[in-house]
Amino acid sequence: MTSRFRRGVSWLGCAAVLALVAGCAREPGNGSGGTADGGVVHVVCGGTEEWCAATTAQFSETTGVRADFVRLSSGEALARIKAGKGNAEFDVWYGGPADGYAAGAAEGMLEAYASPNADAIPAKYKDASGLWTGVYVGALGFCSNPKLLREAGIEVPDSWADLLDSKLAKDVGIAHPSTSGTAYTALWTQVLLVGGDQNKALEYMRRLHPNVLQYTKSGAAPAQMTARGEVAVGVIFSHDCVAAKEAGFPDLVVSFPSEGTGYETGGVALVSGAKNPESGRKFVDWALTVEAQEIGPTVKSYQFPTNPGAKVSEKVVDLSTIRLVEYDAVAAGAAKTALNRRFDAEVAQAPKS
Ligand code: F6P
Repeated sequence: MTSRFRRGVSWLGCAAVLALVAGCAREPGNGSGGTADGGVVHVVCGGTEEWCAATTAQFSETTGVRADFVRLSSGEALARIKAGKGNAEFDVWYGGPADGYAAGAAEGMLEAYASPNADAIPAKYKDASGLWTGVYVGALGFCSNPKLLREAGIEVPDSWADLLDSKLAKDVGIAHPSTSGTAYTALWTQVLLVGGDQNKALEYMRRLHPNVLQYTKSGAAPAQMTARGEVAVGVIFSHDCVAAKEAGFPDLVVSFPSEGTGYETGGVALVSGAKNPESGRKFVDWALTVEAQEIGPTVKSYQFPTNPGAKVSEKVVDLSTIRLVEYDAVAAGAAKTALNRRFDAEVAQAPKS
């Protein structure tokens, strides 16, 4: 059957049941890449703009399927996916910590897809039922501006306790956990460090609050704030500090908390009700390949690839050299909505714009 004919059948079928079944939508298009849907994949992307652009372009070049993307922080991405329920705006979610995916999956926002390429990805980096699969790993750390630290008379922080120093008043940058997956990783890390007690974790965040200049929407934004000298320390994924160093701020210093730090498994998943499900599955398949996972370092994204065949840049942090907490994305995801609500009410409101 030709792809044109298949598409015709699909549209006829859809039209016939449209009056009965809301959301039976396949996007019209040219079936590029030999697909029976619109031949396009709309990606909500949690990596950097540059990485999202390079990835979608390379995907199209390799597969012939068109791709576009919108870069959104984790909480915003999930909110947009939810808003599109019944009329999906996106086909695929790519990038951003897996706890956001777990939270979305629990609300029926993701469709399980067991990609054949997921076999290559170690079990610890994927959901057992195929709701999401990890494409990279990143460790949370501190990004410091040594000049500002000197002026404040303090050393490069190497513990969560160090961030509470009153000499850092209004000198710490961190995103807001309701919008940012990075910041939620920081919040859930506190929960894990105090044996699961969310009250104590929020207590730490309340103590940190006087030192926070601003809660940004995006997790990587404090890297720029630190680079520009607006704050002395940013709490961010360490690869975003490495990227800022490369972007012209070589003096920035990366450090990790001695008590232990959290990490993300950046995911990829098919969105429930995707209008281009076949193209979406192609994207998921491709995102798990060595080719896709070697793009990051070409655009200053130094996360650790989950495909063991992918080359690891020497700029990627060696995870075995830092103390990591046992970060379970599913447990973190299950707690996410309620804990963020408490953060909004008890620590700080989410940024408006
Ligand atoms: O900048 C890239 C990155 O740090 C990813 O590794 C991560 O998944 C994402 O940003 C998190 O973004 P946000 O905190 O804005 O949700």
